[in-house]
Amino acid sequence: MRITILCDNSVGSLSGTLGEHGFAALVEWRGGSLLFDTGQGDTLLHNAMRMKRDLHDVGSVALSHGHYDHTGGLLPLLRHCGGKEIFAHPGLFARRFRVKDTGESIPIGIPYDQAFLQGLGGRFSFGKHFREIATGIFLTGEIPRRSTFEKGDAGLCCDDAGCSPDPLDDDQTLVVRTDRGLVLILGCCHAGLINTIDFARRETGESEVYAVIGGTHLGFCSQSQLDETVKELKAYGIKKICAGHCTGFAAAARLLREFPGHFQPAHVGYSLEITE
Ligand SMILES: [Fe+2]
Ligand SMILES: [Fe+2]
Repeated sequence: MRITILCDNSVGSLSGTLGEHGFAALVEWRGGSLLFDTGQGDTLLHNAMRMKRDLHDVGSVALSHGHYDHTGGLLPLLRHCGGKEIFAHPGLFARRFRVKDTGESIPIGIPYDQAFLQGLGGRFSFGKHFREIATGIFLTGEIPRRSTFEKGDAGLCCDDAGCSPDPLDDDQTLVVRTDRGLVLILGCCHAGLINTIDFARRETGESEVYAVIGGTHLGFCSQSQLDETVKELKAYGIKKICAGHCTGFAAAARLLREFPGHFQPAHVGYSLEITE
């Protein structure tokens, strides 16, 4: 099992790769592969080619949520690599905005409609609940918000006036069952990192979490939420904390300090290999 970051805000030492505000990861195992998220569309094909990965071979796509920086790559992917099955939440096409303190609002939803993507060969499989999409690989579906300290991102709204906060019910995480424990691949983790980990453990019945990799959204939360998250994370004994995308520099630096030897930036080109 190997997870390779194809799109992220940062690039690593592999020359010729490109960064963008977005996230995509390629999950490969013996006999198959799938793409989790697609970035915003400018770097997916370029970085895959640079890493000698042929996305024609990818059987399916799973989407973490409907933000443009995770779904924008669907157009270049389907156009260049042909039709794919796409696992997503039914709220994928909802209107979404980031509303700034200044009142300025920016549309951040998926930049395509469903019929257009179907015309390019996208075959949607929608689901709200925890489900197995390949052997030992699960999509969480909606994640209950149980922790008291994970408040979400108040700047994300369903309307451009900023009147109705976006609960991001569609936010989901990919969960892989491995011999070492669970591996969680996060899109933006809008549901909260601790809510997400707890839900994955409950649904799989597996208490050991080997790795989390991807966007944590800790760059957009309060200092007290970050403090509580770090405290809870320490109790899990996670071996690999590979954070990127919306984690941001300050939260990543905190994780590096708090989890020495276990933290790794999830930048473009990073591969997490899980050997049996
Ligand atoms: Fe994101
Ligand atoms: Fe997001």
